[in-house]
Amino acid sequence: MSIIFNEKSKEFHLFNNEISYIIKVLENGQLGHLYYGKKINHREDFSHLVEIKRRPMAPCYFENSEFSMEHLKQEYPSYGAGDMRYPAYEILQENGSRITEFKYKSHNIFKGKKSLKGLPATYVEKDEEATTLEILIYDEVIKTEITLSYTIYEKLPVITRNAKFKSYSDEKLVLTNAMSFSVDLPDCKYEMIELTGAWSRERTVKTRKLDHGITSIYSMRGSCSSSNYNPFIALKRFNTDEFFGEVYGFSLVYSGNFLAQVEVDTYDVSRVTLGINPHNFSWGLKNGEEFQTPEVVTVYSNEGLNKMSQTYHTLYRTRLARGQWRDKVRPILVNNWEATYFDFNEEKILSIAKKAKELGLELFVLDDGWFGERNQDTKGLGDWYPNIKKLPSGITGLSKKVNELGLSFGLWIEPEMINKDSDLYRQHPEYVLATPNRNLSHGRNQYILDFSREEVVEHIYKMLDKVISEAQISYIKWDMNRCMSEAFSSGMDSEYQGKLMHKYILGVYRLYEKLISKFPHILFESCASGGARFDPGMLYYAPQCWASDDSDAIERLKIQYGTSIVYPISSIGSHVSAIPNHQVFRNTPIETRANVAYFGTFGYELDLNNLTNEEQEKVKEQVEFMKEHRELIQQGKFYRISSPFEEKFTAWQVVSEDKKTSLVGFYRPLQEVNTSFKRIKLFGLDPNAEYYVSINDTVNYGDELMNLGLIVSDISSGEIREKYDGTNGDYHSRIYIIKKK
Ligand code: DGJ
Repeated sequence: MSIIFNEKSKEFHLFNNEISYIIKVLENGQLGHLYYGKKINHREDFSHLVEIKRRPMAPCYFENSEFSMEHLKQEYPSYGAGDMRYPAYEILQENGSRITEFKYKSHNIFKGKKSLKGLPATYVEKDEEATTLEILIYDEVIKTEITLSYTIYEKLPVITRNAKFKSYSDEKLVLTNAMSFSVDLPDCKYEMIELTGAWSRERTVKTRKLDHGITSIYSMRGSCSSSNYNPFIALKRFNTDEFFGEVYGFSLVYSGNFLAQVEVDTYDVSRVTLGINPHNFSWGLKNGEEFQTPEVVTVYSNEGLNKMSQTYHTLYRTRLARGQWRDKVRPILVNNWEATYFDFNEEKILSIAKKAKELGLELFVLDDGWFGERNQDTKGLGDWYPNIKKLPSGITGLSKKVNELGLSFGLWIEPEMINKDSDLYRQHPEYVLATPNRNLSHGRNQYILDFSREEVVEHIYKMLDKVISEAQISYIKWDMNRCMSEAFSSGMDSEYQGKLMHKYILGVYRLYEKLISKFPHILFESCASGGARFDPGMLYYAPQCWASDDSDAIERLKIQYGTSIVYPISSIGSHVSAIPNHQVFRNTPIETRANVAYFGTFGYELDLNNLTNEEQEKVKEQVEFMKEHRELIQQGKFYRISSPFEEKFTAWQVVSEDKKTSLVGFYRPLQEVNTSFKRIKLFGLDPNAEYYVSINDTVNYGDELMNLGLIVSDISSGEIREKYDGTNGDYHSRIYIIKKK
């Protein structure tokens, strides 16, 4: 049993071999937080961890003047009844009061983990994999209960949490805030890591020191978690690095508006809160109705950031992603977007597909522009039937022809969006989110369908179902290219508008669920103007995600490095594109473009017919290389070794579970001259085994490679006299293959 309830002291101790998490029912019946961190021994009573002292100005709960909610560490705090920090939830009552007092009522401990209705969440395959604690807390005055759920995985330093509200009251209650997670850590000596950025520079790793007050990140973009801030934060100690030290990760399994914040009070307590952004959120609860929050997944590591990331990778790859593709290596694809944009016809598509087959690729993906009058981005979104002028045999015929060439066929869709110049808009203008009597902003000439409404989702589903059912489709790229503005659900009352943004995301999840249930053989890749929805919510439906519209290899080093902080390598959509690169106009060697793209799902995003014969031969070799190593890359243990944000060269490593094979990616964006000799320490090898190291052509013991390091010195360490030979010059990279003898 990894959750113990001490009846007498009314304490819950959740633990496994690595972590402990301790909760106590406080004297006033509310839930106090006692500890979260490295595993500690169990004891019958942890009450000495409840720290109370008389502090002037504080509202005191009991007569004795010491017990004040303002200073207690709590599990799911409220505002207004003593605590003056930001709360985890708030309920507006009919009389205007927001004061609540939820007290322990009962609890339930069981093996396994429940799913969340309508929402993505991590899961177990066997009940023994995890234990769950549900604590029911109740407010007598408003006859409302909250179930706080905690699941601890047996073999991973992971705890997941969510909250469910249920009203038994006849009064009108409105949830104006319902966060998924809150924890009060006893000090504030942390730096907060966030993954920040914008379109084409997603998930830059940024670190800032906590201080009194609030440090937060958020999305208020409605349709996406965003490329600006990923729904993840970590708190690390000042000396924690990739390999050593304490770090807590907090990841929200959600794809819409979110808030992740740390409030440090002036007594240095750090309150971490994550959930749906309370801004623009209000949810009326009638008698018998429930509200379910999304899940937060928290990871504790005292072996640095890599251990935290590896834990997320394992959990998200095997117990968040689902379906037939979860454990399979991913097909090597060619996508026609950067090859043709909207300018293609069947002949052009087939010529790329034919070449792809010749070079050993496995999947052809037809991107935007195949439907309605979609020859530019002003028209056609919403009309999910083929453009017969461009593709005379439709998607049915084209997919068949591509299949006959020996390739699978994939298709792009953007189901949540509509152009005004479309048949769908002409038939159903009321399907669009728009505030009455206000200007309606467009984004890339498109508008957003009201996915909060069942009938809109159903209408789109029917159109997509027809195309997919009639064709031979084995992959779908689901795109989403704009943030919400002037959002309003027409025909719905004022109360509904506070629910709109969350209901929209639930609608997106509903359509995904319908499609993956009807077409379980299809591999889904999510996408949002590149990586604006690279979040755990999406991974539940689509096991891979297009990481960024920036396909330049050097920019991708940063994007993929940052993405790997939370997300598994098998989820990172990464392609080799043409030079000069379409986003930054950089010319990188085709080797480097592939050496970066291997560390993801791998594919090409260019016109293969435009490659020289020599380049085509290289592509053949690259495809062979990926086929040989993709299982290791996509399912092995990934280590970040040298950061593109901090160092002149980037390095990362994957190691197979049996420690027999490892690959090291080494990337040197700019050529240096007469610089230091270089070694990088490797990880995860068998210290006593001999390994053959390619490129260096040496045999080394694992302990040498891990303690002394892999020698990566090259021409940069001296005077450069040779001519450019592919190993010198800018944008150089190499992959070391390390094999146990
Ligand atoms: C944005 C995506 O990120 C691209 O890969 C491409 O699919 C375009 N949309 C198509 O409009």
